[in-house]
Amino acid sequence: MAILSALWSWLPHALLFSLCVFFVAFLGYCLYIKHIHLKYDHIPGPPRKSFLFGHAAFFVEWLERDELILDLFLEWAQAYGPVFRINTLHHVILLVTCPKATKEILMSPKYPKEKYLYTRMFNLFGQSLATTQNHEQWYKQRRIMDPAFSSLYLRDLTGTFNERVEKTMERLSEDADNNTVASMLHLFNYLTLDVIAKVAFGVDLDLKYSPFPKYKPQNWPFIREVREACRLLRSTGAQWINARKTAIQNGENVPKDILTQIIKSAGQEENMTKEDEELLVDNFVTFFLAGQETTANQLAFCVMELGRHPDILEKVKKEVDEVIGVKTEISYDDLGNLTYLSQVLKETLRLYPTVPVTPFSSYTSSRLEKFFKDPLKFDPDRFHPDAPKPYYCYYPFALGPRSCLGQNFSQMEGKLMMAKLIQRFDFTLVPGQSFDIKDTGTLRPKSGVLCKIKHRHTS
Ligand code: HEM
Repeated sequence: MAILSALWSWLPHALLFSLCVFFVAFLGYCLYIKHIHLKYDHIPGPPRKSFLFGHAAFFVEWLERDELILDLFLEWAQAYGPVFRINTLHHVILLVTCPKATKEILMSPKYPKEKYLYTRMFNLFGQSLATTQNHEQWYKQRRIMDPAFSSLYLRDLTGTFNERVEKTMERLSEDADNNTVASMLHLFNYLTLDVIAKVAFGVDLDLKYSPFPKYKPQNWPFIREVREACRLLRSTGAQWINARKTAIQNGENVPKDILTQIIKSAGQEENMTKEDEELLVDNFVTFFLAGQETTANQLAFCVMELGRHPDILEKVKKEVDEVIGVKTEISYDDLGNLTYLSQVLKETLRLYPTVPVTPFSSYTSSRLEKFFKDPLKFDPDRFHPDAPKPYYCYYPFALGPRSCLGQNFSQMEGKLMMAKLIQRFDFTLVPGQSFDIKDTGTLRPKSGVLCKIKHRHTS
């Protein structure tokens, strides 16, 4: 009893003491923020909305208005120049659109990936090829993966690409027969998932395509569902890797796909540790996700822009008819001859770089008048083989040693899909839909790109 009353009498002092400690710590933190401001405020930037939270309030406002934060960065790049500063708490981020600085930083292995951005991705991707900031670790992994993406290897995969795209064509054909409105974004998502599962991991998913998948509200059950899906993805990855390893060890005839290549090359590496094994799963998840949504979104934006520009669509049709004709099996060399379609795909990624990486955002650079005349105009002729190449202001696949490993893979898949689509079908955009962009980590068309599909009657 005496102890309790002693404690009780000490409580106000303890509270006062805690308050003082908190106040001093807060004051110290504020002084530290002030020091950061003094240190970096010579770099231009928009006025801060608050001392403590810096520019964060802008982001909250833009998110509440459901607007694209990248457009705010674009406004700021126009107002504050090629390198500008953003503050949040004691963090300072520099956004760069200066070609010289872009070249210097992205092309050099001296600058690691940004810590805060990439640690947030770690839960799902682990220390994968795409996320690791450790140069040694990255280099070891990249060396393991590179052969699986060589053009020689991709050339061999053309048959499988054709076969999977053909399956998607059959589904689209049903939509055309039934006069159904198709969401091109969903269609391309199913295709790219099917392709990555088959081409990279030798697995037939045989997904049933539905033009309108069930709407999933963004609430806690949904987030739980996502967590569940992540766990499922990792455990599926581990199973597929182990099954393939066993098959290789037993001398079975395994497909020569990306998974085999990854495992074989990893096996040749000396000093394979248990952690390296875990990395295989991290990379499985990376390839599964990187290999799917990014390309699907690009293709959906491409259809959206072609739908808005019938003259450009006509030009692509003419090229596809000339190069492909009525062939169902498109060869690797045919793809190389579809030069105007390549220009269209490049121009799509200029306006819609589906992986909008900051602080070097191809989105911002590509929409600045000083780099691209009339930047909001969709004009594939910017990428005409005789046109001057953009100088470090167009980099939808990033640049330098950490640039996208799947660039050729994705553009081969995309070209094949677009060529077959245009060869077989006419598509028109359903009127009244928005052409806005949604940023969900990757950029995608908000509307889903709803189209009426008809069989094309080629003469
Ligand atoms: C239109 C399609 C795609 C776009 C726009 C794209 C864009 C990018 C970008 C901007 C990066 C750099 C990310 C960063 O700096 O954090 C990247 C990295 C990467 N991408 Fe892609 N990507 C696409 C498709 C693919 C595909 C299909 C695959 C695999 C099959 C893939 C695999 C990777 C990997 C493994 C990395 C990490 C490379 C490294 O750090 O060494 N990507 N991609």
